[in-house]
Amino acid sequence: MLKNNYKTALVTGASSGIGKETVKLLIKNNIKVYAIARRKNKLIQLEKATGCIPIVMDIRERKALEKLKKLKIDILVNNAGLGRGFTEIFNTKAKDIDTTIDTNVNAFLHLLRCITPYMIKNKKGHIINIGSIAGLYPLSNSVYGGSKGAVHLINQNLRIELSGTGVRCTEINPGRVATEFFRVAIDNIKDRKKMTTGLTVLQATDIAECILFAIKAPAHVNVSMIEVTPTEQSPGGVIIKKIEN
Ligand SMILES: NC(=O)c1ccc[n+]([C@@H]2O[C@H](COP(=O)([O-])OP(=O)(O)OC[C@H]3O[C@@H](n4cnc5c(N)ncnc54)[C@H](OP(=O)(O)O)[C@@H]3O)[C@@H](O)[C@H]2O)c1
Repeated sequence: MLKNNYKTALVTGASSGIGKETVKLLIKNNIKVYAIARRKNKLIQLEKATGCIPIVMDIRERKALEKLKKLKIDILVNNAGLGRGFTEIFNTKAKDIDTTIDTNVNAFLHLLRCITPYMIKNKKGHIINIGSIAGLYPLSNSVYGGSKGAVHLINQNLRIELSGTGVRCTEINPGRVATEFFRVAIDNIKDRKKMTTGLTVLQATDIAECILFAIKAPAHVNVSMIEVTPTEQSPGGVIIKKIEN
């Protein structure tokens, strides 16, 4: 049992990467975990390995989302996300804008709307919002970066909205992590490889540990934001390019 007496968690995007490792770590810490994703086979494997409770759903489906209101959740790990449109806006497909914003922003907000009322009523709870360094620094991807920039400001606003309720919220902004993210985000294999080679990237377990650190903080401590990158990756800088004639 954690110090804050949290008993239940809901983890979105639990079929792979950060979500999957978070489910494993929370269960090791005696939390009952509901695990959400679309791929049933992956969730069943995770259920067998950990004892989590699988919920097969697309978080963009509003009706299915509303049903989550009946769950008594102490910890929400608002993690499901993707990076379709991981390129310049003028090279982005229309469908990829919708998929990214519907998942990373719209569904993300609706999850907060559906899950926070129980926490507020219970005067206890912790929301972990998974952002990205792409939401803090310009990295030349308007769609994905814009969606994660929204996550950053949503978390900041949420902290104010939740003040006086006893419910905490934490934003975790990772740099590159070795997950399925880049397979989903980038179709071209060469471009995809560039994202995860040439440096020692973070592992999903590194992010799960950050999440546990925030959750385990004493009840009077709110870890509001964690930015975590590979040692060999530093965001920021200025680009200067001559206009070609
Ligand atoms: N990897 C990185 O370098 C990195 C860096 C910074 C931030 N992040 C963020 O970290 C979070 C987790 O990503 P990851 O790196 O662990 O990537 P991942 O391995 O691709 O995991 C993404 C998860 O989200 C789920 N998901 C996507 N769309 C969904 C939907 N509509 N409904 C339900 N579940 C959905 C996927 O499951 P199904 O396909 O089975 O539905 C999968 O479990 C994302 O928000 C991502 O933006 C990643």
